[in-house]
Amino acid sequence: MKFFVDTGDIEEIKSLAATGMVDGVTTNPSLIAKSGRDFLELIKEICEIVDGPVSAEVAATDYETMRKEAEVLRKIADHVAVKVPLTEDGLRVCKELSDDGTMVNVTLCFSPAQAILAAKAGASFVSPFVGRLDDISQDGLQLISDIVRIYDNYPNFDTEVLVASIRNPLHIVDSAKMGAHVMTSPPSVIRQLYKHPLTESGLAAFVKDWKKTGQSIL
Ligand code: E4P
Repeated sequence: MKFFVDTGDIEEIKSLAATGMVDGVTTNPSLIAKSGRDFLELIKEICEIVDGPVSAEVAATDYETMRKEAEVLRKIADHVAVKVPLTEDGLRVCKELSDDGTMVNVTLCFSPAQAILAAKAGASFVSPFVGRLDDISQDGLQLISDIVRIYDNYPNFDTEVLVASIRNPLHIVDSAKMGAHVMTSPPSVIRQLYKHPLTESGLAAFVKDWKKTGQSIL
């Protein structure tokens, strides 16, 4: 499973990239607003740190303007994935960019039907939002299972399932069990993956016992 980090925080990206946990980055207008940074400058800076796909989202919702914005975004770097909403206009932009060899991430996917449309439009990634479905008492992980199963039926679909809106480590582990290709997570949830009480207590015991030996490796 590829790990993307869902943030506009450059320091977080650098820190996680140093541990090899960053195969790509996703951003959205809310994360850009939170960063307080200039959008285009920030995406350029992220692209210099991370070699994998960096998702940059269009701001408009109509075809003409989205298409123009996409031109600006895809010129930043070859590994920019232009992010478009799962609407008719968004998928029209997706089809054109994909036909032209540009990666596209279709975002705000909340149903298997929408995921089929994204694949038919040639998207590189479809982003089903697990947490936001859970928030309204629907089963977000069931959506991942359904999309993976549908895509598996059609080997000509090249779209990767990018699990988004992740809230906890189980969203990641369960999506991996289902065979989702990619997940994008806030840095805090990636860090939760390291944690296990037995790792912490075991390490404390080893440190204590090592002191008893009176030895030093260095
Ligand atoms: C995905 O690309 C989105 O940026 C993100 O995962 C949305 O997550 P949220 O529901 O926590 O805002």
